Amino acid sequence: MMKKMLSLLVCALFCLSGCAGKNGPAPASSQPDAGSENPSSEAGQSAEAQEDGLLHVGIIQLTDHPSLNTIREAFVAEITALMGSQVAIESDDAQNDMSNINSICQKYIGDQKDLIVAIATPTAQAAAAATSEIPVVYSAVSDPAAAKLTGLPNVTGTSDAIPVESIFQLAAGLTPEAKTFGLIYNTSEVNSVSVIEGAKSYMQQNGLSFVEATITNSSELQQSASSLVGKVDAIFTPIDNTVATAMPVLAGVANMNKIPVYVGADSMVADGGLATVGIDYSLLGTRTAQMAADILGGKRPSEIPYEILSDYSTILNPKTAKELELEIPEEILEAAVQVGG
Ligand code: TRP
Repeated sequence: MMKKMLSLLVCALFCLSGCAGKNGPAPASSQPDAGSENPSSEAGQSAEAQEDGLLHVGIIQLTDHPSLNTIREAFVAEITALMGSQVAIESDDAQNDMSNINSICQKYIGDQKDLIVAIATPTAQAAAAATSEIPVVYSAVSDPAAAKLTGLPNVTGTSDAIPVESIFQLAAGLTPEAKTFGLIYNTSEVNSVSVIEGAKSYMQQNGLSFVEATITNSSELQQSASSLVGKVDAIFTPIDNTVATAMPVLAGVANMNKIPVYVGADSMVADGGLATVGIDYSLLGTRTAQMAADILGGKRPSEIPYEILSDYSTILNPKTAKELELEIPEEILEAAVQVGG
C-alpha cells in the first residue's frame, strides 16, 4: 500500500477546476489488470482495480460555473465525510469542450477509476457512452430520460428537473400582464429541448404565446436577446449550459429594455435574471455523493433509481426587480430566497 496516496488525496481535494489533463494521480501500477478485458467483469467489481487500496473517484465537470462548482464542492465534502481517507478524488474541468470531455473520460478509464462522477448532461452522456463497466453517477442532468441515461446497468444519478409550471405560475404572480414570452435556448442541448416542450404546452393551455430565439453558441446570445426586444413581454430560458455561460449578457439586454427574464437555475437569477423556482445545488451534490458511496460500498448502479431533487424554492433577484421597476407582492417576497442583490 502506498502511503503517499494519502497526500495525493489531499492534493486531489485542492485540485478543483481548471486542471484538465494535468494532475491526475498516476495509476499506482501501469501493469494491465488481467480482468480488465473480461466482458463479464461488472461495476462494483472494479473496486480493486488499483493496488493502493484506495477507491478512486474521477469527477468530470462540464465547465467552471457556480452551480456546477457548488455541486462538486458539496460532493467532495459529503463523500469525504462518508468515506474519509478510503477515497482518492481527482477532479477535472472540461472547459465546455467536447474533445476535453472525451479525453478526460478516456483518462479515467485508463486509470481504472472505481467510479466516475459526471456533472451536467453532455459530460454524463460522454461518460456513459465511454464505459459500460465503470459506474457512472451523474449530477444536474435536467432530463435523464431525454438524455438516454436511463436503463443503463452502470449509470445512475441525480436530476435538477425544473418545475416549468411553477415557474410560469410565479411569472403570472410577478408580471401578470406578460402574455408573450421569448424562449431562448440551444437546440442541441437535450436538457433544454425537453423543458422548452413542457413550457410550450403549458403556454398553449394557458393562453400565452411565444417567440423562439434559438442559439448554437454563447456568442449568439446578445443578438438573439436583442431580436426579442419589442416582440415579447418576458423571456423564459431553461437550465441551458450555453445560455447560462453568458447569462449576464442576456440579463443586460433584457433588463435595459425592461423585459423580465425567468430562468431555470438559482445561479442564473444571481447573474441578473428576475426569478425562478429551483433547487439547492449543494443538496444535489450531497445526494450524489450518498449514491456514489453506496455504489463504492458494493451496490450496483442499476439497483439505485435516478433521483429528481424536488424541494424547490422561489428564488428572486431584488436588484433586477428594481431595474425593471417591478413591485414584488409581499407574500412572494417573504417566501423567496433573494440572490444577486
Ligand atoms: N441541468 C444542466 C444540464 O442538464 C446543468 C446545470 C445545472 C447547469 N445547473 C446549471 C448549467 C446552471 C448551467 C447553469 O446540463
